[in-house]
Amino acid sequence: MRALTREHRLHPEQLVQPMFIVEEPSSAGPISSMPGIRRMTLQDATREARELYAAGIRSVLLFGTPAHKDAQATSNYKPDGIVQRAIGELKAAVPELLVIADLCNCEYTDHGHCGLLDATGEVDNDRTLELLTATALTYARAGVDVIAPSDMMDGRVGAIRAALDDCDKSHVAIMSYAAKYASAFYEPFREAAGSTPQFGDRRSYQMDPANSREALREVRLDVDEGADIILIKPGLAYLDIVRRVRDEIALPVAVYNVSGEYAMVKAAAAQGWIDESRTVEELLLCFRRAGADMIITYFAKQYAQQVAAQRQ
Ligand code: PBG
Repeated sequence: MRALTREHRLHPEQLVQPMFIVEEPSSAGPISSMPGIRRMTLQDATREARELYAAGIRSVLLFGTPAHKDAQATSNYKPDGIVQRAIGELKAAVPELLVIADLCNCEYTDHGHCGLLDATGEVDNDRTLELLTATALTYARAGVDVIAPSDMMDGRVGAIRAALDDCDKSHVAIMSYAAKYASAFYEPFREAAGSTPQFGDRRSYQMDPANSREALREVRLDVDEGADIILIKPGLAYLDIVRRVRDEIALPVAVYNVSGEYAMVKAAAAQGWIDESRTVEELLLCFRRAGADMIITYFAKQYAQQVAAQRQ
């Protein structure tokens, strides 16, 4: 009876595993604030993609760390950049794997901000758009399935959509980080991707955690500009936003269970203060209840393996 009347279910196919890929092999290795997650070389990533697919995970989200960073983020739009090569190799190794590429400049700039800076040190929104469209096209040419712009610059979804369509890449979808909050929960990620801003913060382009109507406005703008999937980030403290967006729009809704949320669970479980597998299952299921169609989570592979083990 309980199974028959259960309102929400969670399936490994609804999960997306983020992957950190480094150009410099010496930068590969564990991430201290994210136990169980590693920075991978291209070779490691190909092996991992096969393992993920075998475990039942059908989608990955790629982040790249280039060997070279500069103020113009030039390593981001090189046709043979680290993400472009990873897309090619992963699609060749596991053609059925859905490859999503995060699109942002913060991992590629030496100052760690998400865009080009003007003379006063502020992010120049419109010049950053040119950089984003150039990079998006190189990802598309490398064979990416979905592009996920994560920087919250105004007008980026429309600019990327137009550039893709102009270059015969209309089949490439856009998953837009439509409502991304300026959050303390991203800290471990910045260690993982080496993208901590060298000065200032991201509050001029990310949203104030106090606001929810603003999230709906941002979401509607991205829908109008041609987004295919709407992403809310972070997850745990923002389930009300997930629900409001789910009720408001018809597009698929994704939620990002971010690095700090992962680190909290891992830290408490390591102390023996919570039961890790029950906690993970509950958290992921509650994202579904809140209205998320898909969940980007560092727990993806672990959860898929947990489900497989329970079946045996
Ligand atoms: C920006 C980006 C960030 C995350 C995903 N894309 C960091 C930021 O905005 O500072 C955070 C993801 C996480 O914390 O897991 N490229």
